[in-house]
Parts: sequence; C-alpha cells; structure tokens
Amino acid sequence: MARITASVYTSHVPAIGASLDLGKTQEPYWQPVFQGYEFSKQWEKENKPDVVFLVYNDHATAFSLDFIPTFAIGTAAEFQPADEGWGPRPVPKVIGHPELAAHIAQSVIQDDFDLTIVNKMDVDHGLTVPLSLMFGQPEAWPCPVIPFAVNVVQYPVPSGRRCFNLGKAIRKAVESYDEPLNVQIWGTGGMSHQLQGPRAGLINREWDNAFLDKLINDPETAASIPHIDYVREAGSEGIELVMWLIARGAMSDVNGGPKPTVKHRFYHVPASNTAVGHLILENN
Ligand code: DHB
Ligand code: FE
Repeated sequence: MARITASVYTSHVPAIGASLDLGKTQEPYWQPVFQGYEFSKQWEKENKPDVVFLVYNDHATAFSLDFIPTFAIGTAAEFQPADEGWGPRPVPKVIGHPELAAHIAQSVIQDDFDLTIVNKMDVDHGLTVPLSLMFGQPEAWPCPVIPFAVNVVQYPVPSGRRCFNLGKAIRKAVESYDEPLNVQIWGTGGMSHQLQGPRAGLINREWDNAFLDKLINDPETAASIPHIDYVREAGSEGIELVMWLIARGAMSDVNGGPKPTVKHRFYHVPASNTAVGHLILENN
C-alpha cells in the first residue's frame, strides 16, 4: 500500500527561481530566503520520497485563458520546464508517474471530483520553484512528480472546502495503490501578495501567520475561509493558498488518525512582492 508520509507547503515566487538560476542566493537580499530552506533540503535527503504529488497552479502558461481546467492531473511520463518569456529555467525535466497518476484519477473521479486528464503539458514556476527550494540544484530531480494543477487565476476558482475534501479523496486514492510507495503531497503558492492594481505590493504578516496556525492546528476552520477573506486580507494572488488545503486534507489527523508533527515552519518578507511561507508536516 502506498502512504502519504508528509505534506510540504511553500510559496513559489518566480524571482526565487531567477535568483537560484543566476547564482544570487548568497546576496544579502536573498540569503535569508534560502536560509529558511536549508533544513528542508536536508530533511528531503533524509526522508526521500518515492513520489511527490505536487499541487500547484499554472499561470496561463500551459493553459491559456482559452482553456481553464479547475483541477488537472498530469498523467504523462515527463513534463518539460516551460518557457515563460525568458526561456525555460535551466532545471531538469520532471519525470512523472503515469501509473500512480492514472490510479489517482480513477479513484478521485469515482469519488465525484471531475479532474481533467492532461497527457502533455509544460510546467511553469508554480511547480519548478518549489522543486528547487526543496531539492536544490541537482542534475536530475530525485523522484517522480505528479503535477496537479488548480485554477486560482481566473474566477470562479474552487473553494477552500472543496480543495480540503479533494485532499481527502487523494489520500484515499494513494492508500489504495498496491505498491509500498512513500508519497509526499505538496501544496504550493501564496502567501499574501497582490501583483496588480492599486493594492499591488500588499503583504499581511499577521493574517499569513494566523493562516499557518490554523492550517496546523485547526484545518477545519482554515477550510471554511471564504474567497473574499483571502482576497481582502492576503491580496488578489493570496487566493493561491487554497491549494495548501488540498495537501492538508490528505493528512492523517483529518482522516481519523493522529496529529502530524510540525517539522519546520518558516516565514519571511520580502521576496519580490510576496511573503514567503513554508511548512513541513509529518504524518505519525
Ligand atoms: C509573482 C508571481 C507569482 O506567481 C507568485 O505566486 C508570486 C509572485 C511575481 O511575479 O512576482
Ligand atoms: Fe503564483
């Protein structure tokens, strides 16, 4: 049986990718950001997953505004880093896990979540920046990754509650896969940021930290936060945080098991125009 061993949560700011790719991580502006992931890279070495189920959002890269799936699962054998206008990031291609992805699609769709099946797509900073933060700059990513894209770009976007319940269905799907795989689920994007309009540059440290507290200790309440609260308190792009609820819904305690252990918590402002938040929760 496959198991969800841990969940990881992290922001995916594209400038973090540029800083890594251009060798600027030790500059005074960036050093504190990467310092917050030193523990995480070591933890990943010591707790190497067999597969990462990576919940992220595409930023009108693979899916243009012509075509917007609410939830899309990547079932391909591999995914190329996308060209977002400055050429593709110089990172390894992403190797998928078509068998597990197809199994999860089968199980989750039968549980009434209508996923879009994606057999070919490129993956943008929403997916590659979290991989770089957690795994550094290897020649090849250390394990297969199942990309799971959520629409948080064009309204209507899914509710936090829907995402949380989807996480539970993903857990059930993983646990019914007949191979002893150690699967991590990652929720990415956030935290507070607004990239356009009169409130561009908005950061809300207090709200972000309260969200982290709720996500850890009271995920039911976190799942009840309405869209308007994210947008008002965390800015228009703060809505990316609903993706963290998919990962949280897949953890043991909200499925009748014991509470997770908080292995790591990090919060930092600024990185570009964004607050960076990061958590690692281990199942017990
Ligand atoms: C930026 C873009 C993002 O997708 C994000 O989540 C945070 C910041 C940016 O362009 O700075
Ligand atoms: Fe984003």
